[in-house]
Amino acid sequence: MDHVTGLSCRECGRTFPLEALNACDWCFGPLEVAYDYDAVAAKVGRAGIAAGPPTMWRYRDLLPVADAQPVTLGAGWTPLVRADRLAAELGLGELWLKDDTVNPTGSFKDRVVSVALTKARQLGFKVAACASTGNLANSVAAHAARAGMTSVVFIPHDLEKAKVVTTAVYGGNVVAVEGTYDDVNRLCAELASEHPSWAFVNVNVRTYYAEGSKTLAFEVAEQLGWQAPDHVVVPIASGSQLTKIHKGFGELHAVGLLPEEPHVRVSGAQAAGCSPVATAFADGADAIRPVRPDTVAKSLAIGNPADGWYALQTIRSTGGSCGSVTDAEILDGIRLLARPEGIFAETAGGVTIATLANMAAHGVVRRDERVVAYVTGHGLKTVEALESSVGPTVTITPTLEAFAAAVDLDRGVDEELGPLAVLGQAHVDEQRPLGVGHGRELLAGEPRGRAASRPLAEAHDDRPRREPPHRPRRPHRRRRLFRRGAATCRCKKHDDRQ
Ligand SMILES: Cc1ncc(COP(=O)(O)O)c(C=O)c1O
Ligand SMILES: [Zn+2]
Repeated sequence: MDHVTGLSCRECGRTFPLEALNACDWCFGPLEVAYDYDAVAAKVGRAGIAAGPPTMWRYRDLLPVADAQPVTLGAGWTPLVRADRLAAELGLGELWLKDDTVNPTGSFKDRVVSVALTKARQLGFKVAACASTGNLANSVAAHAARAGMTSVVFIPHDLEKAKVVTTAVYGGNVVAVEGTYDDVNRLCAELASEHPSWAFVNVNVRTYYAEGSKTLAFEVAEQLGWQAPDHVVVPIASGSQLTKIHKGFGELHAVGLLPEEPHVRVSGAQAAGCSPVATAFADGADAIRPVRPDTVAKSLAIGNPADGWYALQTIRSTGGSCGSVTDAEILDGIRLLARPEGIFAETAGGVTIATLANMAAHGVVRRDERVVAYVTGHGLKTVEALESSVGPTVTITPTLEAFAAAVDLDRGVDEELGPLAVLGQAHVDEQRPLGVGHGRELLAGEPRGRAASRPLAEAHDDRPRREPPHRPRRPHRRRRLFRRGAATCRCKKHDDRQ
């Protein structure tokens, strides 16, 4: 591997061989993969990358395992979606969404795990392990299954059901720990020294694992026609992804793929219930003070982030910002993304979009900037977060009359109200609130979403229900089929006409 020179300490610069090492034994600083960028520059070109696979491995020359057969389920080369409707709602100009919900296990973690297990297998490991807030465990279990490795993943015991099921299904070992992620991580650090033959992807092979997130920058630049954006908004848990996205844009310039040095403002997004980096940013502090997480965004619930300080430095040095949002804002953020763009994100995506909205409202993210927001995990992983606020528009018995009584079809498709205006309720569960709109619980029968901002005819009205408007009766169904030649009607009523 002539393009990788070794590992180097981020603090003292000492160098180390390309082994399963993550910390400097001199100063305890974290290690980083060092590349010979001249060697890479001599080898890579835009055409060669374009001819590569439609996965993150098209950038193998900038990953620390170029000559190994990758362990892959096809992660990466995810859509970069222009989000004009969301941009208009937020008062922004050019907004793009990097949709990493479509990765094989539904999150960006497939990128980092693909690199980590490729390296682990190359180094001879047979067991893949990790400490996880959910998505990493999911991805390690899946990739280990693919690679024929044994997996042992450690998660906090109170994760979302979907994350546990989608992890356990691969038949590896899932260890639920009664504690927070930070407890799980501490345990894994101890286990990693007890079991040196296990590859803990975010402990002893973390140095390689982290490099996978650079592909989030490489893809965005290539998808923008080999240009860097002006501003990116990235969710923060450990802070690794954010720092590597920044490193990725810089490397593209270092190897000549971006002729001009990019100046990408990097902003971070956290949940208010776990915001050690955002708090340090707001306070102008240098140290990250650990917190005990309490947030609906469980995937971002790391109270003592390993790369928090580096994330903070990256944000400050690039002129970015770091914000945090409440649980209610996170859930609003999920819907704010889904409604105009058709992308369903998990709570981490809600954090990113809600933070972006706040930053746009305060002019921190500007209208004249080309902005990319990273949407890093799929909404199906955290459906319970929305269970009490999203449901059927109306529930009816299976008859035309019930439908006509429940909705006002004559109103047509109204841009503001959406397609159906609800007239009354054929059946609602009185116990279950049907929606949450801007901090207020909607009552059963009230409309949701945009419709909620306008009073609706007859909803919650004790007066007798309005009769459905008169419509001419539709022809006999069989007769319609017969007319189209799709069937021959043999019923008594039509027999004489045949
Ligand atoms: C969906 C999702 N987005 C973002 C992150 C944050 O990544 P990092 O720990 O690299 O900051 C995580 C971490 O688990 C995650 O699961
Ligand atoms: Zn050092």
